[in-house]
Amino acid sequence: MTDDAKEHDVKAGTRKDAHLALAASDLAQSGVDAGFDRVRLDHCALPECDLAAIDITTTCLGRSVSAPLFIGAMTGGTAHADAINLALAEIAEAAGIALAVGSQRASLEAGRSQAAMRDKASSVPLIGNLGGVQLAMPGGIDLAKRAVDDLRADAIFIHLNPLQEAVQPEGQTDWRHVLAAIGMAVRELEVPVMVKEVGAGIGPDVARRLFDAGVHAVDIAGLGGTNWTRIEAARRDDAALFDPFLDWGLPTVEALQAVRAACPNGRLVASGGIRHGLDVAKALWLGAALASMAGPVLRALTTDGVQVPDPAAAMDVIERCKGQLRLALFLTGAPDLAGFAGVAGQVAPRRQR
Ligand SMILES: Cc1cc2nc3c(=O)[nH]c(=O)nc-3n(C[C@H](O)[C@H](O)[C@H](O)COP(=O)(O)O)c2cc1C
Repeated sequence: MTDDAKEHDVKAGTRKDAHLALAASDLAQSGVDAGFDRVRLDHCALPECDLAAIDITTTCLGRSVSAPLFIGAMTGGTAHADAINLALAEIAEAAGIALAVGSQRASLEAGRSQAAMRDKASSVPLIGNLGGVQLAMPGGIDLAKRAVDDLRADAIFIHLNPLQEAVQPEGQTDWRHVLAAIGMAVRELEVPVMVKEVGAGIGPDVARRLFDAGVHAVDIAGLGGTNWTRIEAARRDDAALFDPFLDWGLPTVEALQAVRAACPNGRLVASGGIRHGLDVAKALWLGAALASMAGPVLRALTTDGVQVPDPAAAMDVIERCKGQLRLALFLTGAPDLAGFAGVAGQVAPRRQR
């Protein structure tokens, strides 16, 4: 490694660890809510099914999972981040749900392998991650291939984070040719390419362009949960510059509804401000195939982003979420996810109150 690369590595590592601590703090929460509280599911006073037998199992990327829920993309690239990721891999395997990792760039550039995650999470879907702006740089497609190979990933998320990069002191703000790079990744990678934001949302026009480019799924990753503008601004001396943009973005529910209407056949993931299983149910009701949570799992796992991981607490968050999703199905009279989609379809025009 050159001296420049070493310096970059140290800076990237410090940044990743600072992110973890800030992301677990109250400062990281968006000032705008995701919109789930304004969605009401139709109560069914005569469910005609047994709560104990409600089935929320499904498939994700060709593997069976215990719920249409996954642990959202977080972290990687430092010893501490790797320890958190290994704990997340064990939790995902034990809970039988998919796991998306955070950007693999820092790890790959520093020569750190995350292969041990696949050993811990051998039966569930593992989803790699790379930034769209990094994908568009020379060597970006090769980096994406290495990311998939290192993790033996079932798919890769490309994240779009122009706002985060603009606020990040060392961020990349030349966003030309990113869509073309995503199209090339779709053609050249051997696994499905999925695209997400990081908390500012993907709207209907961008979603349409992404599906036209052949992406497998779009994850809304909307405003209302972990807020990267606030996290990055907290690391700057000139934070006031970004004050008007702290809650910039598309709230998750608004974006999900708009994208669902614009892309009726596109596979959608809902994330950004999902905080319990009723939010997951509402996301499915609004047309998502899967939902994910990142910040709440991190906070349960570490309390403050830096403590020793507490897998039992994170497991509780996930299992409670599954229980709440089962209850929501029961209370709408749906014995399983197919039935729930059917109920949601029948009441489509009245989905949001
Ligand atoms: C500590 C932390 C690190 C994250 N790192 C990444 C990342 O590297 N790549 C990415 O695509 N998203 C990343 N995210 C964003 C999440 O995947 C997700 O889109 C966002 O946090 C909104 O979901 P939430 O409200 O459930 O936290 C990160 C989130 C957290 C909390």
